[in-house]
Amino acid sequence: MKYDFTSILERYGHDAIAVDMPTDYMGNYGKVKREEGFDVIPMWVADMNFPVVPSIQEAIIARTQHPTFGYYRTRDEYFQAIIEWQKQHNNVDVARENIGYENGVLGGVVSACNVLLSRGDNILVHSPTYVGFTGALGNNGYKLIHSPLVKENGIWVMDFRDMEKKIVDNKIKLAIMCSPHNPSGRVWTKEELTKAMALFEKYGMYVISDEIWSDILLNGNVHTPTQSVSEYAREHTVALYAPSKTFSLAGLIGSYHIIYNQWLKDRVSKESSLSHYNSQNVLSMYALMGAYTPEGNQWLEELKEVLSENINYACDFIKNNLPGVDVVKPEGTYMLFIDCEKYCKDNNVTMDELFYKGWQYGVYWQDGRAFHGRYNIRMNLALPLSRVKEAFDRLRKYVF
Ligand SMILES: Cc1ncc(COP(=O)(O)O)c(C=O)c1O
Repeated sequence: MKYDFTSILERYGHDAIAVDMPTDYMGNYGKVKREEGFDVIPMWVADMNFPVVPSIQEAIIARTQHPTFGYYRTRDEYFQAIIEWQKQHNNVDVARENIGYENGVLGGVVSACNVLLSRGDNILVHSPTYVGFTGALGNNGYKLIHSPLVKENGIWVMDFRDMEKKIVDNKIKLAIMCSPHNPSGRVWTKEELTKAMALFEKYGMYVISDEIWSDILLNGNVHTPTQSVSEYAREHTVALYAPSKTFSLAGLIGSYHIIYNQWLKDRVSKESSLSHYNSQNVLSMYALMGAYTPEGNQWLEELKEVLSENINYACDFIKNNLPGVDVVKPEGTYMLFIDCEKYCKDNNVTMDELFYKGWQYGVYWQDGRAFHGRYNIRMNLALPLSRVKEAFDRLRKYVF
């Protein structure tokens, strides 16, 4: 490998909530006393524990050499980098006018909802559900209607019958597709997306497609952009992307929408502008330009290999060593959504007990109940494999 995916980064003192979270932020988690001799293995919030591709730092550092940071305009190279990235990775032809800056994907989701819905309206989402949707949409007065994914032949699939019933019963006009799906890790196939979109078209619905995870594909899986599956999808979908998940740049802020329908594009851009907060930071612009490069592309190829190995290791480990724990192997993302229902019931252990025990031994995993998984725990595997092995070793010896 050309790039470094094995060094253990010291993140303490470097402003990372993954390790440095204040107790008020972490609620009860912060009150768990860690056993002596067990360092923190950060496996909750979705950022990565690898150094970024050097071309990102180089681009930012080069810009900081010039001693001016006044008002500026987004460079053409920024848009060109997105156009080329989208062509290379998603095989779509995006024009400059289809792209719009968004501070965050969730902010873009809310802006699109504000354009397409009235407060109090229902939105179709799949469950388990990304906790950010629950918070951001609930805070903004929308109601989420959950259509549970179901396990079929060892993978999570959409339940189209349930989706249709919920759409009709709740007069739903908007669906959010999370593609790939967080936290299940499903990478939707073209056929599944086409079928979902045909259903949405039948009821004249709009779609927000959150594709923040679209670059993080495991074991050779391929991403299909929702907008590419039909003419209806192209005209009725607001798609959101970002380099923040792919290249671990969340702290720099910056994402973007792609909208082909000019009316919808104008309305979402207008709505996003209303707060006067939706402004790009000049260094974030350079971060994207440093990421969406041939170096960034090679780094990403290596990252996908590393993450596939980590996921494969973890799933095999669970199957062979943790009886009562079930997991569906993710096809994308670096998250595992483990199901501990059988383990808890067989061993008369509560989810709270199990969950906090992980933290006690330094495995900072995430409570899946916030994602609508009653007995689930979400684990971030974007760490050097040695750390993943250490975490599972501790889970086997001390937690399960
Ligand atoms: C599906 C999904 N959407 C959005 C976000 C957050 O994006 P942003 O920080 O740009 O709002 C995340 C972060 O984990 C995510 O998993």
